[in-house]
Amino acid sequence: DKPVTIAGLKTMKARGEKIACLTAYDASFAALEDRAGVDVVLVGDSLGMVVQGQSSTTGVTLDDMVYHSRITAAGLSRAFLMTDLSFLTYATPDMALAAAHRLMAEGAAHMVKIEGGGELEPTIRHLATYGVPVCAHLGLRPQMVHKLGGFKVQGRDEAAAAQMIEDAAALEAAGADMLLLECVPSHLGKTIAERATVPVIGIGAGPDTDGQILVIYDILGLSPGKKPRFVKNFLDGADSLEAATTDYVAAVKESTYPGPEHGFK
Ligand code: KIV
Ligand code: NA
Repeated sequence: DKPVTIAGLKTMKARGEKIACLTAYDASFAALEDRAGVDVVLVGDSLGMVVQGQSSTTGVTLDDMVYHSRITAAGLSRAFLMTDLSFLTYATPDMALAAAHRLMAEGAAHMVKIEGGGELEPTIRHLATYGVPVCAHLGLRPQMVHKLGGFKVQGRDEAAAAQMIEDAAALEAAGADMLLLECVPSHLGKTIAERATVPVIGIGAGPDTDGQILVIYDILGLSPGKKPRFVKNFLDGADSLEAATTDYVAAVKESTYPGPEHGFK
């Protein structure tokens, strides 16, 4: 199979083919996901929680992201590799450019992801100008946890939803090549995906985004404690990690995951 590119992902969106994404943090899981047909592998800063055992993502450093990006890239041959810029490494456009350089040059990332809304416009324009593909992560922004005092669904009232629709359009116009929506009502996920010309990937954003993403350990039932509503354990009923991952990809492609029960009203 030919390697996945931004152009290929845009073609998938245009054709209505769902994009299957998963996180990975090392070469073995990356290779498993690549074999299972995952289109986009994300080295998420969720690694602070699921790999490092911290209670949030704010303690993850750029060195951590570079390291995990590099060892994840080593397991891939087909999938597109996106890596998160960690907390406060993109507080100015120039910081973002320098950090993205490390993720791409040392970490072999194909795209970087940053959390935010309309305020990211100058940063995204700067990255795009210098040839850095960017995904803008809107809605729930886990790096803001200490400021917000917890995680909750975003864009529930009309004003917040209208603002997110406006921000998504502005960030696409500034040069974002992909958008990611976390924990927003399903109807808002649908509206933003319909209006965007770049792929919109959802997590807890309903069935109508152009693709879906989950944390690999969540689909394998490895994460203890209360599960977010959008999580589904694909190892239940599968007889291997590979089968579970393949089942996840198939469920995304066939639109059987997420179901209405995984979404927010
Ligand atoms: O860090 C992460 O894993 C993420 C996804 C869950 C979207 O940002
Ligand atoms: Na993240």
